[in-house]
Amino acid sequence: MNIKSLDLFSQQFHQNPYDYYEKIRPHQPFAKVKMLNDVHNTWMAFTYKAAEAVLKDKRFIKDMRTAFPDEMTDENLPPMARSMLFVDPPDHHRLRSLVQSGFTPKKIEKLRERIEEIAREQATLMRSKETVDFIKAYAFPIPIRVICELIGIPSEDQLDFQRWSTALVDVNDDSHYDEANMEFMSYLEKLIEQKRVSPEEDLISYLIQVEEGGDGLTVSELYGVIMLLIVAGHETTVNLIANGLLALLTHPEQLTLLKADPSLVVQAIEELLRFNGPVEFSTDRWAKESFTFMGQQVEKGDHVIVSLASADHDPEVFANPGTLDITREKSSHLAFGKGIHYCLGAPLARLEGEIAIQVLLEEYPNLTLAAELSELEWRQSLIIRGLKQLPVKLF
Ligand code: HEM
Repeated sequence: MNIKSLDLFSQQFHQNPYDYYEKIRPHQPFAKVKMLNDVHNTWMAFTYKAAEAVLKDKRFIKDMRTAFPDEMTDENLPPMARSMLFVDPPDHHRLRSLVQSGFTPKKIEKLRERIEEIAREQATLMRSKETVDFIKAYAFPIPIRVICELIGIPSEDQLDFQRWSTALVDVNDDSHYDEANMEFMSYLEKLIEQKRVSPEEDLISYLIQVEEGGDGLTVSELYGVIMLLIVAGHETTVNLIANGLLALLTHPEQLTLLKADPSLVVQAIEELLRFNGPVEFSTDRWAKESFTFMGQQVEKGDHVIVSLASADHDPEVFANPGTLDITREKSSHLAFGKGIHYCLGAPLARLEGEIAIQVLLEEYPNLTLAAELSELEWRQSLIIRGLKQLPVKLF
């Protein structure tokens, strides 16, 4: 397959990227790809080995201010670009350690009951309908309600987040992106001012205190971390739940297995993350210097992305990667990344995924897909793999 013909923005590619990857991976573990509005060379890692090597290599950096000091300054960077995901050590460590203690598996486990309550409420709300868009009715509200409660966003404001964060991660025209960014920022400004005056027992109030303390966090970093947690905290998990359900509905024998033994759900979530995970590509990295990598000459300033989806279907690491097997033994998938930027929210995402799928199968054991597979449309995003809608029949 000619790599130049790989159109990452086409519906045809999104319908089944795994077929494309299968053709490319054996010949091109790490190769140049064509991007929209390319200014720099863009490289993509397709094999597991190349993907892991990129994610762990300190010469691929995240901070655009270091990669392009003449073009990128503090003033022209959006706030999210100052969050932990887009900076390097020592800033990365400083920013991550501010919130890390709130996301440990032990802390997250304490949310189990509340997440289950939310999942049951959403399941009950669907009961009056026979057919629903599963994303709108169930997969979206659960993670957004959980992350908003966790960080301290009032429930009445939560609906606006769908619009804003979808615009921020989809390949839309710039006017949508700018508009969403501005609305999101002005909303946060008001909320932060409100919490400065009357702090509560939540993560935003805590981060404001750190910022006011003067030595841990700047104002723009404060905005950055809140925006990152909101966007990363739900865009991803929504699609773990929805892509996961789609995979189960299209593999009825696996669904039957899970229904017969609900304790398999923990393993099932790992396999669903690997098989059709919600984060198809890593975020951007930039070559700090020129060097040879996987036999290719990478130049200083080159753009590098990892196809996590391709790495997780690499037959060198996963036997029969195209087979969904919820009993697969311990999986070393890269759905949550690797290295210092490994997903902070992995314990939360896993717990939400488990509960959402379990509650759904208990409440609607007979649910089925209410559309042909070919009718399902995938979002055009260079990070997220997710459907625009997932119609399901509940009874
Ligand atoms: C199934 C759901 C999720 C998946 C598949 C996922 C995946 C990822 C991946 C692949 C990265 C690394 C990206 C890179 O290195 O370029 C990442 C980072 C991150 N994720 Fe998640 N994520 C999920 C859910 C969450 C949730 C619920 C949160 C909320 C707290 C979250 C917060 C973060 C943060 C803060 C980072 C940046 C970590 C750092 O830079 O040190 N994620 N995630």
